[in-house]
Amino acid sequence: MGDLARKGIVGLMIIVVVMIGMDGAECKLHKVGARGWIPNYNYTEWLNQRDEHFYVGDWLYFVFDKHYFNVLEVNKTSYDSCNDQGFINNITRGGRDVVQLTEPRPYYFLSSGGYCWGGMKVAIYVEQIPPTPAPSPTPAKSGSSLSSTTTTLMKTILSTAFYVALVWSSFFN
Ligand SMILES: *[C@@H]1O[C@H](CO)[C@@H](O)[C@H](O)[C@H]1NC(C)=O
Ligand SMILES: *[C@@H]1O[C@H](CO)[C@@H](O)[C@H](O)[C@H]1NC(C)=O
Ligand SMILES: *[C@@H]1O[C@H](CO)[C@@H](O)[C@H](O)[C@H]1NC(C)=O
Repeated sequence: MGDLARKGIVGLMIIVVVMIGMDGAECKLHKVGARGWIPNYNYTEWLNQRDEHFYVGDWLYFVFDKHYFNVLEVNKTSYDSCNDQGFINNITRGGRDVVQLTEPRPYYFLSSGGYCWGGMKVAIYVEQIPPTPAPSPTPAKSGSSLSSTTTTLMKTILSTAFYVALVWSSFFN
């Protein structure tokens, strides 16, 4: 079997595994700020206007110019006083950087270089994943029962595709 075909099968298997793994707990990626991570912007106000929820497992996405700004996780004291010394975690990489929120607690981020004073800081309150609502006692509407049937069907197709890919690749190896 050609190298390309083998790569294709491995790729398909990875996609299927990822799709099955994503079922249930979906982790959201939250871009920070309407225009990214910039100075002279009030991120508290931005959050207040959005009513956005952050759950354990979600990711934050900071987009910024790394030549001027950075993203440091700090404690509350340092957040309040814009202290960039002794930070907890340096998120800065290339300027399009992500960090996962792994615990239900407040997370505090700021940029050093004096920009924190102009508002370049954000406090994110991370909540535990809410319990999935219990099945409603009233009969489900046809729309929702259809979508759950579709999801089950999708999962069956994906598992079958995964199995076929597995058998196929071992057969040709
Ligand atoms: C940002 O907005 C919040 C809420 O409106 C306000 O309490 C806070 O003082 C503002 N921060 C700055 C640096 O202006
Ligand atoms: C917060 O971090 C600063 C800088 O590392 C440190 O001096 C301070 O003691 C910390 N505060 C708390 C409450 O942990
Ligand atoms: C944070 O990490 C980046 C990339 O590794 C590095 O260039 C930068 O100097 C670090 N910033 C601080 C304040 O340590």
